Amino acid sequence: MKYIVIPLVAVLFLSSCKQRPKESDVVEVAQPNYAKIGMIYAQETQKVLGKNLKGTIQNKGVAEAVVFCNERAYPLTDSMATRYHAQIKRVSDKTRNPMKRASATELEHINTFKKQIAAGDSIVPIIKERDGQVHFYYPIVTNALCLNCHGTPNQNITPEVMEHLSELYPEDEATGYGIDEVRGIWSIVFNTSDASK
Ligand code: HEC
Repeated sequence: MKYIVIPLVAVLFLSSCKQRPKESDVVEVAQPNYAKIGMIYAQETQKVLGKNLKGTIQNKGVAEAVVFCNERAYPLTDSMATRYHAQIKRVSDKTRNPMKRASATELEHINTFKKQIAAGDSIVPIIKERDGQVHFYYPIVTNALCLNCHGTPNQNITPEVMEHLSELYPEDEATGYGIDEVRGIWSIVFNTSDASK
């Protein structure tokens, strides 16, 4: 039996090599996958923020974690932006930090993602290429953890946490969320030349 099996495997292996179309490799190199690159930037930044947020909640509680978000969310995001030579922002239609308000274009994309999520569509990033730059947009969706600070006051958000929030963010609009809602989007810009490196 062995004598039959080995040559057969060899033939299958060789023929599969021969059939592989060379052109497809060339196309992949010529068109860098901007969506994939943007997703890596968004996910890695999310990981850093999420790890620090969860750690602070576990060690010091939700109220202290509000202070953490206030002081650390921006510098952590910014350090990831520096690492990737990209602009990385989290923006929203209902902001806590008024500096994070979405632009008209970003608002349009937020609405697109809201409709897609409500309809149960699969979500793909929005990519716009302009003047040698890639603009990447992807929704930031709530889970149960987020409701501690973005849910309904007194129901999900304790009075102690509310006190911290209203002191730090007198114009806070970012409460009243449930789970699986679009809390905002990642708005990321990077150079097309960086993407093909
Ligand atoms: C411990 C409280 C806390 C938790 C939990 C929390 N956030 Fe926030 N979030 C904040 C604070 C405080 C800010 C404002 C940070 C700043 O000053 O830039 C913020 C800001 C944001 C922003 C930026 C836009 C804005 O409105 O300023 C987004 C997006 C966001 N949070 C999403 C989430 C998501 C998604 C989750 C769950 C995975 C979450 N947050 C969990 C406290 C929290």
